[in-house]
Amino acid sequence: MQIDILTLFPSMFDGPLTESMLKRAQEKGLLTVRLHDIRDHATDKHRTVDDTPYGGGGGMVMMPEPLVAAVEGVRGADETAPVILLTPQGRVFTQQVARELAAHPRLILVCGRYEGVDERVRQAVITDEISIGDFVLTGGELAAMVIVDAVARLIPGMLGARWGAEEDSHAMGLIEYPHYTRPPVFREMAVPDVLLSGDHGAVEAWRRREAIRRTWQRRPDMLLSVELGGAERWFLADLAEADAPLRG
Ligand code: ADE
Repeated sequence: MQIDILTLFPSMFDGPLTESMLKRAQEKGLLTVRLHDIRDHATDKHRTVDDTPYGGGGGMVMMPEPLVAAVEGVRGADETAPVILLTPQGRVFTQQVARELAAHPRLILVCGRYEGVDERVRQAVITDEISIGDFVLTGGELAAMVIVDAVARLIPGMLGARWGAEEDSHAMGLIEYPHYTRPPVFREMAVPDVLLSGDHGAVEAWRRREAIRRTWQRRPDMLLSVELGGAERWFLADLAEADAPLRG
């Protein structure tokens, strides 16, 4: 997969792209990330990329010419790759959106800065807009890093066979079950017996139940869109019953 990132601050990406899984993905040839400095497409000698907004008001707006020239230069003849603007105005990024993006061979991410980008950039070249949550960052760079990370780990061959991305929190529509490793007892807190039993069926059932319990406790909204088996629905009903106020 190839991801092109257009930014005014290419060096912000140095750390995340040169460590751990993203580094290995690039070494293995599974992921190519190309960084493009929008300023290289400015046309004046001061390399200006922003200007004051028409109509007044504070802040600076990214000008259309350098940004559109940058996108068109990077995109080349390939008009099939999504051109995604990172902005708090976009649709909210979720695991579902990560899966959708991971299905593309190429993505172009455009990092906005200042108060925003000239509206005509949207009209000319942007095909999608994504927000990583209901808060405002100083620019799209950190959001782009979040997207690269979440998408890259879904590329086939990225994760070891033993911890498939399909079992993650959110991939199953549930919060993940609790994890334990050695030692079996830590400060008098013991690992649940079932995990030491060697009974894979029992372990699986326990994990699924605990995932349902956690989701009920922390993100009950997620239970509205997950499919549960008959026994699982009873388990959930028991959780709800235990939590219900005592009836007189
Ligand atoms: N740029 C500024 N805030 C953002 C957000 N929440 N998501 C994506 N891009 C942004």
